[in-house]
Amino acid sequence: MRRPVTIAPPKGKLGVLTPGMGAVSTTVMAGTELVRRGESVPVGSLTQMGAIRLGKRTESRSPKIKEFVPLTNLDDLVFGGWDIYPDNAYEAARKAGVLESKDLEKVQKFLKGIQPMKAAFDQNYVKNLQGPNVKKGKTKFDLAEQIREDIQDFKKKNKCDRLVMVWCGSTEVFMKPEDVHKDLASFEKAMKANHPAIAPSMLYAYAAISEGVPFANGAPNLTVDIPALEDFAKTKQVPIGGKDFKTGQTLMKTILSPGFKARMLGVTGWFSTNILGNRDGEVLDDPGSFKTKEESKLGALEYIFQPKLYPELYGKLYHKVRINYYPPRGDNKEGWDNIDIFGWLGYPMQIKVDFLCRDSILAAPIVLDLALFFDLAKRAGMRGIQEWLSFYFKSPMCAPELYPEHDLFIQLMKLKNTLRWMMGEELITHLGAEYYD
Ligand SMILES: NC(=O)c1ccc[n+]([C@@H]2O[C@H](COP(=O)([O-])OP(=O)(O)OC[C@H]3O[C@@H](n4cnc5c(N)ncnc54)[C@H](O)[C@@H]3O)[C@@H](O)[C@H]2O)c1
Repeated sequence: MRRPVTIAPPKGKLGVLTPGMGAVSTTVMAGTELVRRGESVPVGSLTQMGAIRLGKRTESRSPKIKEFVPLTNLDDLVFGGWDIYPDNAYEAARKAGVLESKDLEKVQKFLKGIQPMKAAFDQNYVKNLQGPNVKKGKTKFDLAEQIREDIQDFKKKNKCDRLVMVWCGSTEVFMKPEDVHKDLASFEKAMKANHPAIAPSMLYAYAAISEGVPFANGAPNLTVDIPALEDFAKTKQVPIGGKDFKTGQTLMKTILSPGFKARMLGVTGWFSTNILGNRDGEVLDDPGSFKTKEESKLGALEYIFQPKLYPELYGKLYHKVRINYYPPRGDNKEGWDNIDIFGWLGYPMQIKVDFLCRDSILAAPIVLDLALFFDLAKRAGMRGIQEWLSFYFKSPMCAPELYPEHDLFIQLMKLKNTLRWMMGEELITHLGAEYYD
């Protein structure tokens, strides 16, 4: 197959900018440095650990993904970010309590060198937080302009060739698309008028796109999932994507539910509850932020089970999601699932899942992969929504006429086929009839 795109080589340094320097962001910064120093292994990262089969099964060609596509080398990554707290990445990581001292101390100097830039923040959008390290500006447009200056300064100071931005900030209150989001002119007008439908995360996304910087949204906020910014990204040739890193309970859901559906097993109920005690949990204790997260978590099953297509199996599914802030657990979340399924002749069965997970340990490799793949997409001339990266998101963005694909295995196949397509290799259909001719 002819290579459909030309991919610019990953020359020079890639700056990875994260609005939000909390648990997830500092875990990816510390982890990347530990891996670079040969102190650890990047477990959970498809770009670093994954292989990709090429050609026929008889050819035995399965290079590592990072050797197959021209990804930026970890040694060429530079990190920066914004936060409402002035703590450097070392102090923030200590407070987040994800990594143990034995790991943090090894990279103390590196982390101390990453100082957060002043945040564009408004407590109306994240009720449970308040911090001093925030920008001042008459209008939201002024704040976006200041973020653009930060981006330019960072690039110059760190001698970066390219940048990517991954939103690792808190979950904002629930918002729906409004008229001011419908096109760029209305959006810019609304920024200048301090319209309430413009959330701080949108200012970062707008600034990133304006600067030609790919933007991935790790939280369930609306942010870049609006026509104004989608069109803007296309015009500026910038890849965008989101929303909400797929970790923990939703990861388990999108692993298990395709299996039930594959075997045509019915599901009547799926009750999910979580306890977590990190800052993210505190933010989600506010009903507005919880609503945003709840919507994001509820979508997956509906799309995977397709109740309209399989009414006898999934037409009566009762799906409930709860998140409870429980400080003693810190970042170590516990997610329980009770799944009521039924089999042959409708006989009921139950499955219980108790996942004692570490949220940021699961999220960190996703941030790394997104940074590297969004940079690759940009160098390959891809623009707008990058649906092939749905693999990483709980609530994947897609074209308006499509429904999102949630099944983890379809998402992985789509991702790998996109890489094969980029490199001019045959797509793999798993037909395999030729082996038996
Ligand atoms: N950890 C996971 O498994 C996971 C999974 C999916 C999504 N997420 C999302 O990722 C985000 C980060 O998670 P976390 O555990 O690191 O949370 P965290 O609370 O530890 O860090 C978020 C940081 O963002 C900062 N912040 C908030 N608003 C900001 C703004 N406007 N500008 C700059 N900084 C801002 C906060 O001060 C905080 O330090 C959250 O939205 C969370 O819901 C996390």
